[in-house]
Amino acid sequence: MSPRSTLLTVFLLLTLLATTLTLVTELRWDRRPDLSSLFSARRPPRRGPACNHPADHEKTGGNKIPLEVHIMSKCPDAKDCLEMLIAPAMEKIEDIVDFRMSFIGRPTGEGISCKHGPSECLGNTVHLCAAHLYDTHTYLPFALCLTHNFTLLSEQEFIESCAEEHGVDFAKLNDCASDIGPGGGMDLLRKSVERSRRLNAEVSCTVRVDKEKWCVRDSGIWKDCEGGSQPKDLVEHIEKIRRSRMAGEHRKEGGMKQQTGQKVEEWIREERIVRAV
Ligand SMILES: *[C@@H]1O[C@H](CO)[C@@H](O)[C@H](O)[C@H]1NC(C)=O
Repeated sequence: MSPRSTLLTVFLLLTLLATTLTLVTELRWDRRPDLSSLFSARRPPRRGPACNHPADHEKTGGNKIPLEVHIMSKCPDAKDCLEMLIAPAMEKIEDIVDFRMSFIGRPTGEGISCKHGPSECLGNTVHLCAAHLYDTHTYLPFALCLTHNFTLLSEQEFIESCAEEHGVDFAKLNDCASDIGPGGGMDLLRKSVERSRRLNAEVSCTVRVDKEKWCVRDSGIWKDCEGGSQPKDLVEHIEKIRRSRMAGEHRKEGGMKQQTGQKVEEWIREERIVRAV
């Protein structure tokens, strides 16, 4: 089968499986942010090797702060959330966060039902496959392209054009999206939807930072965003978490030094060390 017919088959399959809840969404359009400058080929330069190998540490992702958005691929709030908050913030914090996108839907007996219809389920799957195949640096610009014109998500040419523009291999994407076996697109979608439900992220878009709900964009307004909903607020929040984590590590080190100091004092008392005058 050609890639085109495979994706079409999946689309028809989803059409059969999913219950369509029609939702007429009014597209609000105010200001188009300049996304082209974001994520162009300017990654911060890698620092040279240091004693504690920060680069190796970074690779493990061990110390990165989880940043997760829960969305529906055909939701205007998801588009706003990514364009107004996530993308501009990620420009500054890409290297210190572990970014993840999860999707909101409803598991049905046979498949998954998506609020804006089967083409949204397909869109979600395309997002998840791209995130599965590529790292954030490639995947996020592609995701922004998809959400920017989300009304076109049911058109294969549109997905192909986003893929081409952002260095995503459409054939691989299609293989993944059409794969209904374990580890395939449908499996990724089901797991993602179950994850959002488990974490009580029911509104698109819900932003979670360090495993806690941080801000919600709903019906064109920000809600429950303590400390603000601007990119700088998100950056500050994440940097604050990072600082407090680092302070925690320093405290541990400080504690050790103190212990050593106490030990020296003991030795002096026991006259094992004679203080030079
Ligand atoms: C996406 O939307 C913009 C308007 O926001 C439009 O100019 C552009 O042509 C659209 N892209 C596609 C592929 O239709």
